[in-house]
Amino acid sequence: MEKVLEGRVAVVTGASGGLGAHFARLLARAGASVALTARRVDMVETLAGEIAAEGHRAMALRLDVADAAAIGPAFDEVETVLGPISILINNAGVGGEGLALDLTPEVWDQTFAVNVRGVFFAAQAAARRMIASGVAAEEAGRIVNIASIASHTVLPGLSAYNASKAAVAMLTRSLAREWSRRGIAVNALCPGYIETDINAGWFQTEGGQKQLKGFPRRRLMEAGDLDAALLMLSGPAARAIAGSIITVDDGQSLPGGG
Ligand SMILES: NC(=O)c1ccc[n+]([C@@H]2O[C@H](COP(=O)([O-])OP(=O)(O)OC[C@H]3O[C@@H](n4cnc5c(N)ncnc54)[C@H](OP(=O)(O)O)[C@@H]3O)[C@@H](O)[C@H]2O)c1
Repeated sequence: MEKVLEGRVAVVTGASGGLGAHFARLLARAGASVALTARRVDMVETLAGEIAAEGHRAMALRLDVADAAAIGPAFDEVETVLGPISILINNAGVGGEGLALDLTPEVWDQTFAVNVRGVFFAAQAAARRMIASGVAAEEAGRIVNIASIASHTVLPGLSAYNASKAAVAMLTRSLAREWSRRGIAVNALCPGYIETDINAGWFQTEGGQKQLKGFPRRRLMEAGDLDAALLMLSGPAARAIAGSIITVDDGQSLPGGG
């Protein structure tokens, strides 16, 4: 793979599994030094070990993005070990499942604490460091918020998740408006459905099968389908991309099922 991210340091939140683990491997193969963060530190340690065994620089850190005060110190540790952060993949997310009539305040709050508040304060902590280190002045700052087709489409039974991901889309545009002048490109990637822990078991249910049959290609995506867009938004190609909400969904959010 072409080393378009050679010399860059990337932080991936929620890298203990699913898409975050995939993104961390991808960024490393593209030449970046990667910091894998999540609450399940044993899992990020294992993954960082696997990435290092492939000959890349990787480290693992425990980070709960809902704990805003913990983000800055974690990013400082990344900079001490790997160098100035130039890429943040704001990937940590929770599903916030529950029909609107049954949803509890706890599920609502946790969904927004991770999917929106966590995204904002991780972006803020990264941007402050990109400006302080001079990475931003070189126009090399990149923040990629992992939103969802739920940012612009109603996923049934997921009102808290949909609202949180719509917030991520607007947050992306707002931060891009403030920070693009400083040299930080803030953009969002909206994936369609990919089988991971966040939707485990759903597509084996009757409702999931019905939803799948409504997708134009009647299939789920694979994590690798996101690679081109993620690398574009993380690297030099994003020089003039700011506040873009890029959907890569195999057509899943196009209207008109069947
Ligand atoms: N899979 C899909 O179809 C799909 C589609 C569109 C968008 N997305 C988005 O993609 C992102 C990754 O999802 P996924 O599919 O890979 O799901 P996943 O396998 O459930 O992974 C979610 C990740 O988020 C982390 N996380 C959850 N709460 C956290 C917290 N408080 N602090 C730090 N990390 C936390 C988890 O790590 P720990 O539990 O170890 O902390 C885990 O690594 C999410 O933002 C999701 O909304 C997924």
